[in-house]
Amino acid sequence: MIPRTVVIVTGAVILAVLSAAVVLSQATVKRMTFRPIASVRGVDVYKAYCATCHGDDGKGQGPSAAGLKVKVPDLTTIAIRNGGNFSFGAVEDSINRWKQVPQTMTDVLDIQQGRQALPMPAFGPIFAQLYPQEVNERRMRMSNLISYIKSLQVAQDPAQKK
Ligand code: HEC
Repeated sequence: MIPRTVVIVTGAVILAVLSAAVVLSQATVKRMTFRPIASVRGVDVYKAYCATCHGDDGKGQGPSAAGLKVKVPDLTTIAIRNGGNFSFGAVEDSINRWKQVPQTMTDVLDIQQGRQALPMPAFGPIFAQLYPQEVNERRMRMSNLISYIKSLQVAQDPAQKK
């Protein structure tokens, strides 16, 4: 596989996530680097792209979460927050975020200069860039990723447990 990376620059803090899992922090710009992985397993996709914010357990306390202005949601309570319903389509939209992709150069500059915060990167375009040829693998990764998140769902909100 040819090494490809996607760098996203957004809001408040520089977070350069390097291949050696080194996180650099600096004021004003946030930078994240994502690299392609060979595995199509949901857990591997999750660890490679999501755990830095959402945490290994999905509860929203990953190492990058503290640097964000927006609270990172608990991915284990999606179903209970939606009346027991886990919608594959809605979760897929939350991950891909095609609607959030900057449409104009002004949007791009706003994001780069921190006037517009993108709390979560839009993974639709990121995965398309990281895996341009591997259309079937990309579908498989997305479907396995969503199944993995579904497998993390808890039956009861821990905050409401007596
Ligand atoms: C830079 C940190 C960051 C990364 C990386 C990240 N997320 Fe998020 N995610 C957030 C934040 C913050 C929110 C809440 C605000 C929003 O939705 O934009 C969120 C929201 C979500 C939601 C909606 C949750 C809900 O309760 O409705 C889903 C689903 C989700 N993320 C899945 C993922 C998956 C899967 C990945 C990896 C492919 C991922 N996220 C990577 C920060 C991140």
